[in-house]
Amino acid sequence: MQHRNFRRQRILVTGGAGFVGSHLIDRLLDRGDEVLCVDNLFTGDKSNIDHLADHPRFEFMRHDICFPLYVEVDQIYNLACPASPVHYQFDPVQTTKTSVSGAINMLGLAKRVKARIFQASTSEIYGDPSIHPQPESYWGNVNTIGPRACYDEGKRCAETLFFDYRRQHGLDIKVARIFNTYGPRMHPNDGRVVSNFIMQALQGQPITIYGDGSQTRSFCFVDDLVEGFLRLMDTGPDFPGPVNLGNPNEFTMIELAEAVIDLTGSNSKLENRPLPQDDPRQRQPDIRLARDKLGWEPKTQLRQGLGKTIEYFDELLRRNIGAEKDPLIVDAGLEFQSR
Ligand SMILES: NC(=O)c1ccc[n+]([C@@H]2O[C@H](COP(=O)([O-])OP(=O)(O)OC[C@H]3O[C@@H](n4cnc5c(N)ncnc54)[C@H](O)[C@@H]3O)[C@@H](O)[C@H]2O)c1
Repeated sequence: MQHRNFRRQRILVTGGAGFVGSHLIDRLLDRGDEVLCVDNLFTGDKSNIDHLADHPRFEFMRHDICFPLYVEVDQIYNLACPASPVHYQFDPVQTTKTSVSGAINMLGLAKRVKARIFQASTSEIYGDPSIHPQPESYWGNVNTIGPRACYDEGKRCAETLFFDYRRQHGLDIKVARIFNTYGPRMHPNDGRVVSNFIMQALQGQPITIYGDGSQTRSFCFVDDLVEGFLRLMDTGPDFPGPVNLGNPNEFTMIELAEAVIDLTGSNSKLENRPLPQDDPRQRQPDIRLARDKLGWEPKTQLRQGLGKTIEYFDELLRRNIGAEKDPLIVDAGLEFQSR
């Protein structure tokens, strides 16, 4: 039920037709806000927001944030940016433009309408980290000229812009560094380990394990992540972040594959392939700051989150969506598993 003093906010979500953005919008609408979703549908899909088409407090605008936007809003969540390597390396110049010009445009808008603004940053700003787990105070280790730099450096520059707009123009900013997230509405063929394993298991294909499968990853369920966003956005102007949001529980690739096989009831077998050169052994968020400042930590157990994600992919396959290779991936000739 809506609280008597609740003032309805008008909220802009860029990248709202994507995986995380569409879940955020569901939560904002549930709590009574008005939402404007801005997306150029590069990696997002209208099917993620189709269920909202007749919602009286929801609006969709097809727009590329590399171009200025003038709308009246109280808050901005800036999520627009392709997130998986296959997608962000497809057009790397556009990826950097989205992060950098997109941030400038959204910060300009926030300044003009005096809106609080949230940036979806990433654990990739830590690059290939030399310390584990990574606290927010770690400055990172990023190759400026490698194929991942369009994303990593774009997101790093966006953080710089957010903090300069705060220092120079007094903007009320919130920066979240997001670690691996999974859940329904992920892209079925984006080359990430959770979607790869589930799609392979559901189609009875061998599950590809790079190396011996003892390398670990941590995965945060999307509902937990969105809860972190809302809590961060509700903190006072004296806490801009950056704050890590992710799940510190680590699983080996073998453990993940076995859980997926068990939950899907698949008879897929594990197939080992050579480990790619840049495959990190371990990646794990230090979430002490989020616990302390936001009272936040992930609540969803891996098997519970995997169950919901499997249900979603199963439904996609029944409708025969996602069984084909993503044309972006085929065009780019790329396949990634690790992050
Ligand atoms: N999913 C994760 O594990 C993860 C991890 C770290 C950071 N993030 C960040 O969270 C945000 C959302 O990620 P996601 O997983 O939902 O990815 P996604 O690809 O599903 O969503 C990104 C959305 O942004 C849109 N978009 C891309 N470029 C745009 C542009 N120039 N103008 C307007 N819209 C544009 C896409 O069409 C898509 O709908 C991204 O900024 C990403 O970098 C995600």
